Formats: sequence, structure tokens, C-alpha cells
Amino acid sequence: MKILVVGGGGREHAIVKKLAESRKVESLYCAPGNGGISQLAECFPVKATDLEGQLALAKKLKVDMVVVAPDDPLCLGLVDLLEQNGIRAFGPRKNAAILEGSKVFSKQLMKQYGIPTAKYAVFDDMQAALEYVAQQPAPIVVKAEGLALGKGVIIAQTQQEAADAVHSMMQDKAFGDAGNRIVIEEFLTGTEVTVLAFTDGKTLVPMVSSKDHKRALDGDKGLNTGGMGTISPNPAYTDEIAQRCMAEIFLPTVEAMRAEGRTFKGCLYFGLMLTQDGPKVIEYNARFGDPETQVVLPRLESDLCEIFDAIIDERLAEIPVHWKPGAAACIVIASGGYPVKYQSGYPIEGLEQAEAMQDVTVYHAGTKLENGRFLTAGGRVLGVTATGETLEAALTQAYAAVEKIHFQDAHYRHDIGRTK
Ligand code: AMP
Ligand code: GLY
Repeated sequence: MKILVVGGGGREHAIVKKLAESRKVESLYCAPGNGGISQLAECFPVKATDLEGQLALAKKLKVDMVVVAPDDPLCLGLVDLLEQNGIRAFGPRKNAAILEGSKVFSKQLMKQYGIPTAKYAVFDDMQAALEYVAQQPAPIVVKAEGLALGKGVIIAQTQQEAADAVHSMMQDKAFGDAGNRIVIEEFLTGTEVTVLAFTDGKTLVPMVSSKDHKRALDGDKGLNTGGMGTISPNPAYTDEIAQRCMAEIFLPTVEAMRAEGRTFKGCLYFGLMLTQDGPKVIEYNARFGDPETQVVLPRLESDLCEIFDAIIDERLAEIPVHWKPGAAACIVIASGGYPVKYQSGYPIEGLEQAEAMQDVTVYHAGTKLENGRFLTAGGRVLGVTATGETLEAALTQAYAAVEKIHFQDAHYRHDIGRTK
């Protein structure tokens, strides 16, 4: 098969690498891709959000399948457009991607179908929102309704901070139109877990669990980022909790979406909080997580291409999905200053030495290949992943590989997998 993967980060590198292992795959393409991906797949400079450009590329390459990985083209309807043109596509249609694209939709769905989540209220009027926060106990969680590149969530420690967040979203438009409507939520405490799941809208197969470290600095300090490192499995996610999640959250979500006429086919991301009252949903994403994918897919034993194919044809129940025992850890090396302001274009040294190490894979998130040299080209630059028999072994090996890699102002967290 010829496959085009849409996107160009560490997640897409992990998807491309797994697809490259499949005997069914004869050619791999990626758009826009990045430096690392270009070693496995031919890359084309078409933006993920350029729907017409992606369609034209898929037609020109005569691909058998397009894998749409990032949130924005999914929410814009790239899968629908491809299907309308007779091209097989992996990922949810626009009417299902709304599960990620609209927090108001997802909260209402959970409420209606009794899926456990934080209590909430929705506002499109700033004055009403301000009156509401004045009556809530802190901390208070304020979220912009739409996609805001993972940054539209503010955990306010005081009522004043919450009021400031309401002002900045609704009046100053800090997140653009994403803040026209906001969700104000109860603050949940507990341990966070990510579970990605394959689903064809009828059958749901959870992948191995993971944990993302979202804050920029050691000790969970600093700003929220797209993710600074991950581990799999998540030690807090016991078999008993997994069974509860399946019964109380995963299957009810798939069934609710089908009942709404919004059958979800693709990878469904459950961001969960394990609270004293049981597991609750913090957020859904309509796609693979980044950098969760970089620790989950290396542990997949089955053929990813076969799984994608089965999901498109709604026969996921018929195929086995197996996982390797053991663990994986991914340490993100970012540009100094990420997630705010950073420089790009610095040469990256030591990649070969790191990759020569046993059980290590370096996924490229923001790099470009120029005259045979890898240069930094983004906020998150690399995701250094190691697998091992135990989490400790995977972490030790991943950090040993990180030590080999250097570029100017490189920044990474030293406590991935070691905080609560
Ligand atoms: P989200 O984009 O909804 O995943 O939010 C980003 C991060 O904010 C999550 O990973 C949590 O760490 C935190 N968060 C979001 N909602 C809540 C909540 N209701 N209670 C506690 N923490 C939350
Ligand atoms: N790592 C969090 C996300 O992919 O949204």
C-alpha cells in the first residue's frame, strides 16, 4: 500500500516509523513531515491545514490511504473531503472530531450520557461568567471553548485569577475566537492518565496506558506545554481501574457518539483524572497524543497498517491487537524558551550516537535536514524514547541517550516518570 501521513511532529514520526515496519506498506509519504521523517518517508511541503493541497497531493501520489494525525485538519473536515473524493482516510470525520474541537459539545455529551467528568458551566456572556466565578471555591478551571493549541486552559488559584482569565479570554481575545464561549470547571485532584484507544465506532480497543508531563519545568513548574515527556505504562493505571474506565467511560463514549449520529472512527484520546470518586474525563482528543504516541506505538506488536485498514472498514473486532510487555519512556528536548519564545536553526549534534544505543529511538518533532545536517526547527525538537523491561530501565536508557545530544539552549526535564 501507498500511505500519506498528514502532519509533521514527533507523533507523526512515530506513526510513520510503525507503518514502515508493516509488510503491507510499500511507499510512505508525509506532508509536511520534518527532518527525521524524511529519512523514512518522502516529504512534501504542504501544510496540514491546507485541505485542498492535501487532497491534491493524495490524488497525485495515488495513495491507498491517508492518515490524518493532527487536530486542526480533522476538525476542519479533511477526512470528509478525502472520502468525498473516493480516498480512504484514517481519522474521525468533522462531525466526530468535534469531541475535541468543542469543549462545550464534549461536556454536554458527558452530562447527557452520564460519563463522569468535572462539574461545569458554560458562558458566552462575560458578566455572567464573572458573577459565577465570584461564587466558586478556588482553584477554578477556565477553558476556552475551541482549539487553542493546548493553551486555552487556565487553572486559577484564586477567584481574582479566574476573573482575570475570563477577561483575557472573552474581552482581550487571548485565544481568538476560541474564547467566545468559555467553560468554567470544578478543579479535580488525583493522578492523570492518558489512554489512547483504537475505535471503529462499534468496537473499542484501548492501547497501553501512558502519562504525559505537561509543565515546562522540573517539579511540574512553569507553563503548560504540548508535553515534555511521557512514560508507558502509567503505574497508577491498575487492571481494576482499566476495567472501570472501559465500562464507565470508554464504551459509553463510543456509544454516545454513535447515538448522536457522530460515529467516531480513529484514535480516541482519553485524558483522565483518577480521583477519590473514581476515574473522570478531563478531556477528549480526536487523535493520537503527542508525545504519548512516542511511548505507546513502540510497544505495539501488531501491524498498525492492518489496524488502520480494519478501522476504516469497521471490522476492528476481527483483528488481534497485541502489545509488547515492558515499558517505554520519552524525554522531549525543547528549544530554550519554549513554550513562549525561542530561536530555531541551531545544528543538532550527537543524534547518531544516541540512536546507536540499544532500545533507543529518537523521534523528530521540530527539525529540518539541510545539507545533510539536522537543524532545530520548532519548540519541541526531539523526543528521545527508550524501551526496557521496566520503567526504570527505560528511563535510565532514555536519559543516557539524551546526554549524547546537544544543541544551543537545549532544554529538557530531568524528572520525567519520577514525579507523582
Ligand atoms: P486540557 O487541555 O483540558 O487537557 O487541560 C490541560 C491540563 O489542565 C490537563 O492536563 C490537566 O492537568 C489540567 N486540567 C484541565 N482540567 C482540569 C480540571 N477540571 N481539574 C484539574 N486539572 C485540570
Ligand atoms: N500530550 C497531550 C496532547 O497530545 O494533547
